[in-house]
Amino acid sequence: MDKNFDVIVIGGGPGGYVCAIRSAQLGFKTACIESRGTLGGTCLNVGCIPSKSLLNLSENYHKAQNEFNNLGIESSGVKLNLSKMMNNKNKSVLTLTKGVEYLFKKNKITYLKGTGSILSKNTVSVADESKKKISYQTKNIIISTGSIPSSLSGIKIDENNIVSSTGALSFNKVPKELIIIGGGYIGLEMGSIWKRLGSKVTVIEFLDHIIPGMDKDVSNEFLKILTKQGINFKLDSKVTSVNVLRNKTIVDFTNNKSAKRERIECDKVLVAVGRKSNIGSDIVKLGIKLEKEKIKVNNKFETNIKGIYAIGDCIHLGPMLAHKAEDEGIAVAEIIAGQAGHVNYDVIPAVIYTSPEVASVGKTEQELQKESIKYKVGKFPFLANSRAKVNNETEGFVKIIADEKTDKVLGVHIIGSHAGTMIAEMALAMEFGASSEDIARTCHAHPTHTEAVKEAALAVDKRPIHF
Ligand code: NAI
Repeated sequence: MDKNFDVIVIGGGPGGYVCAIRSAQLGFKTACIESRGTLGGTCLNVGCIPSKSLLNLSENYHKAQNEFNNLGIESSGVKLNLSKMMNNKNKSVLTLTKGVEYLFKKNKITYLKGTGSILSKNTVSVADESKKKISYQTKNIIISTGSIPSSLSGIKIDENNIVSSTGALSFNKVPKELIIIGGGYIGLEMGSIWKRLGSKVTVIEFLDHIIPGMDKDVSNEFLKILTKQGINFKLDSKVTSVNVLRNKTIVDFTNNKSAKRERIECDKVLVAVGRKSNIGSDIVKLGIKLEKEKIKVNNKFETNIKGIYAIGDCIHLGPMLAHKAEDEGIAVAEIIAGQAGHVNYDVIPAVIYTSPEVASVGKTEQELQKESIKYKVGKFPFLANSRAKVNNETEGFVKIIADEKTDKVLGVHIIGSHAGTMIAEMALAMEFGASSEDIARTCHAHPTHTEAVKEAALAVDKRPIHF
């Protein structure tokens, strides 16, 4: 095999594989190194995709068990077959990871299986399972090594009693009692899954609210809805220790304000306190500059070493989200090709795939207040949206924040069914610099949930029709 490439991408996750495909499309001789044995990274293998499969399946189960009977669909006797559900999830993961492998073949990308390390700015070595190393030459290196779960000091994740999201996606029986440390994205998605499947779920969160950085209005509403669904919350609480004793797990925590100590005994503990960049020792050895333990890049995604670029969860820019990494993958390939690749970090949508979904793009009210930017707000509840009403999906609202003077949309926050799909229209509007008036004057199909967006835009100017 020829060992000379134009581009070598290290890491086959959403950032890396998309970058490899775009590089190949641009005519570069491209290789992608991946150590996991399958392509797709955390997202496809142990993140976004398997969690969305279980979120969908557990929601169907929950509805069939608790809601259908009231709606004229006789569903008594519905039973859970967890191993079949897990098989379905695994099948979806396999199909998608194989799909990426097919795309590599289609684009003539060399897939190097093993662990890559950078030896110099033009040389990368790949160690296979038997630790045999082969070196490859390249003009450009793109680091896309992603992130790994963080833990708390003194708490060791064993993926049995104390798990990360990876373990929580593969429990072989429904835990009677599940404690989740961290009320962020992972904690609330995984908590929803296991609550619906029958666990008693308690979330212990350090802050006095869930989902740090989320618009407060939405965060408060989200907390109310999840509490109504039966998830217990211990906010403003710091976990002090987690111990495993005879297959029982004991969690000790203290309230930050009252200093009251509490202890809960449970079957499983999920540690979901964030993720940290995956920085190999080769990166440190080469002297690649870091910022807050993440790779520092310039506006061309280039590190301090010319020809070595980095994208995705391992860099200091933007949130740790798969779609952000994909966009960076495309941008960096285009920049290397001399084109104007670009990522707009002001318009990166974020979605939590609970029921209802929560989605946002742009600034929160709290951020705007901090920046002393004057704004106006339009809100519209799904309770007043006809489609949401007939579908029994009346929880939540759409909130549009626009500049007080220019009316330019600065942020959109949605809690409600299909929020994750609806946010795309808002991202597009913001990319085009839309005003709330532009959204209000765009014809939205009736009856759809998206009419709530139009109504929220009308509400910015205090003229909603249906509320
Ligand atoms: P996160 O940053 O969303 O939430 C971590 C939570 O843990 C925070 O609320 C934080 O205050 C809390 N916390 C930290 N230390 C604590 C302590 N000692 N005791 C109690 N609580 C503590 O991180 P998470 O949920 O682990 O997700 C990791 C990454 O994966 C995030 O960057 C997220 O964006 C991404 N992700 C995205 C998803 C999506 O797009 N739907 C789904 C899952 C993950």
